[in-house]
Amino acid sequence: MPNKSSMSKAFAAAFAVLTISIISGIITLTILYKSEINILNPTPPPTFSPTTTAPPPDSRLPTNLVPESYEIFLQPWFHTRIIEMVNVTSPNQTMLFTGNSTVHFHCTQAARSIYLHSMDLTLSNPWVMNQDTNEQIGVSDLEQQEDVNDFLKVNLEEDLMAGGNYSLFLAFEGEVSASLEGLYECVYIEGYPKDEDDENALRFLVATNMEPTHARMLFPCFDEPAMKAEFHLTIIHRRTTSALGNTAILVSNIIDDEWKYTQFYPTPRMSTYLFAFAVSEFTSIPSSHERVEIKTYARPEATEKGHTKYAAHIAGSTLTFFEKLFEIDYTLGKLDQIALPDLASLAMENWGLITYVEGSLLFEEGVSSLLHKEDIAIIVAHELAHQWFGNLVTIKWWSDLWLKEGFATYFSFPAVDYVEPTFKMKDVFMMETLHFAFEADALTSSHPLSSRPEDVQTIDDIRQMYDSITYNKGASVLRMLADFVGENVFNNGIKMYLKAFQGITADQNDFWEYIQKADPSSAISIAKLMDPWVNQIGYPVITINTTSGEIYQKHFLFNNTAESSLWWQIPIRFMSNTSDTSMVLLDVRGPVKKEEFISKSGEWILVNVNSTGYYRVNYNPENWERLLTQLERDPQRIPPINRGQLIDDVFNLARAKLVNVTLALNFTRFLSKERAYLPWDSAVKNLEYFVIMFDRCEVYGPMQTYLQNQVKGLYNFYRNETDNSSVPHDHASQHNQITAIDVACSNGLPECIEMAKSKFSNWMRSNSTNNIHPNLRSMIYCHAVAAGGKEEWEFAWDKYQSSRDTSEREYLQYAMSCTKKIWLLNRYLKYTLDSEKIRFRDVASTISFIAMNAAGQALAWNFIRAHWGTLSRGDESTMIMAVTNRFSTQFELEELERFASDHKVSSVKQAIEQTQVNIEWVRENKDIVLRWFEQETKKSNGFSSSD
Ligand SMILES: *[C@@H]1O[C@H](CO)[C@@H](O)[C@H](O)[C@H]1NC(C)=O
Ligand SMILES: *[C@@H]1O[C@H](CO)[C@@H](O)[C@H](O)[C@H]1NC(C)=O
Ligand SMILES: *[C@@H]1O[C@H](CO)[C@@H](O)[C@H](O)[C@H]1NC(C)=O
Ligand SMILES: *[C@@H]1O[C@H](CO)[C@@H](O)[C@H](O)[C@H]1NC(C)=O
Ligand SMILES: *[C@@H]1O[C@H](CO)[C@@H](O)[C@H](O)[C@H]1NC(C)=O
Ligand SMILES: [Zn+2]
Repeated sequence: MPNKSSMSKAFAAAFAVLTISIISGIITLTILYKSEINILNPTPPPTFSPTTTAPPPDSRLPTNLVPESYEIFLQPWFHTRIIEMVNVTSPNQTMLFTGNSTVHFHCTQAARSIYLHSMDLTLSNPWVMNQDTNEQIGVSDLEQQEDVNDFLKVNLEEDLMAGGNYSLFLAFEGEVSASLEGLYECVYIEGYPKDEDDENALRFLVATNMEPTHARMLFPCFDEPAMKAEFHLTIIHRRTTSALGNTAILVSNIIDDEWKYTQFYPTPRMSTYLFAFAVSEFTSIPSSHERVEIKTYARPEATEKGHTKYAAHIAGSTLTFFEKLFEIDYTLGKLDQIALPDLASLAMENWGLITYVEGSLLFEEGVSSLLHKEDIAIIVAHELAHQWFGNLVTIKWWSDLWLKEGFATYFSFPAVDYVEPTFKMKDVFMMETLHFAFEADALTSSHPLSSRPEDVQTIDDIRQMYDSITYNKGASVLRMLADFVGENVFNNGIKMYLKAFQGITADQNDFWEYIQKADPSSAISIAKLMDPWVNQIGYPVITINTTSGEIYQKHFLFNNTAESSLWWQIPIRFMSNTSDTSMVLLDVRGPVKKEEFISKSGEWILVNVNSTGYYRVNYNPENWERLLTQLERDPQRIPPINRGQLIDDVFNLARAKLVNVTLALNFTRFLSKERAYLPWDSAVKNLEYFVIMFDRCEVYGPMQTYLQNQVKGLYNFYRNETDNSSVPHDHASQHNQITAIDVACSNGLPECIEMAKSKFSNWMRSNSTNNIHPNLRSMIYCHAVAAGGKEEWEFAWDKYQSSRDTSEREYLQYAMSCTKKIWLLNRYLKYTLDSEKIRFRDVASTISFIAMNAAGQALAWNFIRAHWGTLSRGDESTMIMAVTNRFSTQFELEELERFASDHKVSSVKQAIEQTQVNIEWVRENKDIVLRWFEQETKKSNGFSSSD
C-alpha cells in the first residue's frame, strides 16, 4: 500500500474517515483522475523474457538464486526527544541508521554475479561465502543500478555453482526517510506544548512501511513477493525506547548507558514487503484471545486516555472469527497493532506488526462519532484477513494484487458483521464497494482486475495496481462467485485453497481450481466463468424485455458512442412479485429468448436480486413502470438492497443515455415513504450531481421544494431522537438520521434549521458543555453556521483553535465553510495563507470545503488563481476538483483553459474534460429537469394535505 495520493485510497474513499459524503466524492474523483491519467499516458510495456542468469533486460530479478534466510542487524541513531538544543536550525538529532545483513541463498543455475535490490544505501564490506565448503569467494565489484530498477549487481571472481548454497554479507548505512517509505520518521507532540514551536514537546519515532518495494531501502534484499525467506532480526536502539518486530522478542539486553539490543524470533518464510519493525516510546494495552498475545500500541497519552480500547476490544474476536472460518490458526504467537502519527496508507498488514494511521485505530469516546467505529472495525478486519490472504498465501507477482486485496476487502464485511452485529452494516459496505467499482469501471480507460505480469514491471506500474478496481471490483467479483456457487461451497473452497498454498504462492487459476474442487458435481467451469470478469475491463448491462422474454448484454460505458464487443457469462438471480428468487446463467451475448423472463399477467420481474451480480440491468418501459408502481404502493416487497440498486442503475443508465433522465427522477418519488438507509443513500449520491449542476440557476427553487417534500417524512421519523440529541440503535439507521438532517437542512426544511440553530446557540450560551451528540455534530455545526452570522462563525473559530480533539476540529473546520456570508468565506480563505491560523496540511481541504459551498465556489476559484504559487504545494488535484466541479458553462471552460495554459498543472486536464461533459449534460437536460421538478412540486402542492 504505497503513498497517500495513490489508490490504496479506494479503501479510504469507501470507508471514508469523513462522514460528509461530499468529501468522499472529491476523493473518489481525485482517485479516478489519478488512475485514469496513468492510462492516458501508458509507459510502453518493457520486453520481458523468462528470467535466467543473464543480465536482466527488465525489472525482474533472475530466478537462479533463491533466498533462504536473512540475518539482519539494524541500528537507528535518532533520539526520541531533542535533548540539547545546539541551535534552532540544527537541533541535536540524527536520522542516520547503520546495519549489516547476511542473506543465505541457494543457487539453481551457475552465475558469475548476484542480482538483488538495494536503494539509497551506502554499502561496504561485501563478503561472499560458499556455505557448503566454507570458502570465501572474492567480490570484484559492486554495481548499483539505481536509475533503472534498483538492482545491486555483485560481481564475483568465480562462478556460483548450480546446487550450491551461498551467503552474501554487506554492511550499510542510510538515512531514515522523511517520505513515509522504507524506514521513516514520525513526529508527534506529547503533553501540553506552550506553542507550536515548543521543542520540548516533540517526540520522534521510527517505523517501517515496505509494501510494495521499499524493503530495499532498508537492507539489500531480493525484494519480490515470491522470494520468501526467514528473517532473523536484531535491533540496537536507545535504552529509553522499545523495539517491536514481526515476531516475539527472543532476548533484549542493555549494552551500555546509551544502548540496548533486542533480538526477535525468526519469522516464518515471508515476503520482504511484510518485514516490519518500530522503535518508539509507545505504550500498549492487551486484547483477549485464547492463544495469541495481542497488544495495541499508541502514543502514551492516547493509550492513557483509552483511545486504543475499541481497537483492542475488536481485535481478538476478529482474529477468532477468521481462525474459525478458515480453519487455520493465525501463524504467530503474538500480534501487535500500532497507531502511527503518519503512514502512507490507512494501514499495512505486516505479519505480526500491523501498522495503522491514528485515524484508523483510535477512537475518542464522547468525541468521535459512533460511526467512526465502523472505519476502525472494517480496517482492522481487512488487515487481519491479510494475515491469511497475502501473508500466508502470497501472490506470485504484483499483477495479481487483487487476489490479496480483493479477498481482504471481501472478508472484512462478514468479520465486522460477526464482531459488531448491531451495526447491521454488511449490506451497506457491500453496496459502497460495488458502487465504487461500478463508477471506476464504466470508463473506457479502466483496466482488467488482473494484469499480465509482463505489463507490471516498473515501480510506477506496481503503484498503479493500488486502485479502486483492485480493491472494490476484486471484492465484488468474489461476492458474485460466492453467490453463484453458494456460500458453503465457496467457503469450503477457500479452506482447501489456503491449506494447499500456505507458506507458498498462488495465482488466480489455483483459486478457481479449488472452488471447482469444492463442488465436484458442478458441470460449470469456474475458470471459464470467471475469466472475462478478471481479464476484461468493465462490466455488462443486461437488457430484458419482459414482454418477449428477450435478453441481451453489452459492455456498460458512460460514453455511449464508444464501441465494445466484450461480453461475459453472467449468473442472473431474479424474482417476480409472484415468485421467489431463482438463478440462471446467461452464457451468450444475445439477444436470446428466455422463458423465465416473460412476465405473466402483468407482473414485474426484478433482476440481480440483492445486487450480488457485478452488472447493471435495463428493462422494457412496461417493467420499469410496474417496478415504480410497486415501489410507490408497497416498497417492502422489493429487498432494500434492490431499492437502492434500482435507483443507482436507473440514474447511471440515464448518464449513459440508455434511458430518459425523467425515468431516473421518477425513481425518487417513492422516497417520501422510504425509511431504509440504502435507497436514501443511493438517491442522495446520485442527486448530488443534479444539485451541483443546478444550484446556481432557476432549477434550484423547484428542486429544493421537491427534495424538502421528499425528506419531510424521513426527518420526522427521526425527529424525536434528533431533538433529544440521541441516536437510533443500529448504524445503518444512524447514518440515515444524518442523511435526513443533511437533506432537510440543505433544502431549507424550517424545523431542521430551527433545530440546528437552537442546539448550537445552547452550546454557545453554556459555552463549555457541548450536549450535541457526536454523530450529529458535523451536520448541526454546519447548518447552524450556514443559518447564522458573524457570532456563530467566530464561536466556531474560537472552538477550532482551542480544541485538542481531532474529530472536533474536523467538524468545525468543515462547519466554517458552510456560512453563506461572502465576507466570512473570504476571511476564512485568507486564513489559509497564515500557518499560525490553519496548518499547512489542512489548507487544501479547507479551500475544497469552501469551494463545495455554492456561495464560496467563485471566491475559492479567484483565490486559487491569485495564490497558486503558494497553494500548489498542497494537494493540487483535490483543490482543482473541488473548485471546478460546478463548472458547466463555456465561460468557465475558457477560464479553466487559460489557467491550464498559465500553470502547467496536470490535474487541470481532467477538470477540463469533466467541464465539457457538464456543459453537454446541462444543455441536454436542464429544461427537461426543470419541467419535471415544476410538475412534481405542483402535484404535491395539490395533494400535500392528504400525504
Ligand atoms: C547552528 O549549528 C550549525 C551546525 O552546528 C552551524 O553551522 C550554524 O552556523 C549554527 N547556526 C547558528 C545561528 O548558530
Ligand atoms: C546530543 O545529545 C547527546 C546525549 O544524548 C550528547 O552526548 C551529545 O553531545 C549531543 N550533541 C550535541 C552536538 O549537542
Ligand atoms: C553486524 O552488526 C552488529 C551490530 O552492530 C555487529 O555486532 C556485528 O559484528 C556486525 N557483523 C559483522 C560481521 O560485522
Ligand atoms: C467517446 O468514445 C468515442 C469513440 O471511441 C470517442 O471518439 C469520444 O471522444 C469519446 N467521448 C468522450 C467524452 O470521451
Ligand atoms: C418487447 O417485445 C415486444 C414483443 O416482441 C415488442 O413489441 C416490444 O417492442 C419490445 N420492447 C422493447 C423495448 O424492445
Ligand atoms: Zn489490503
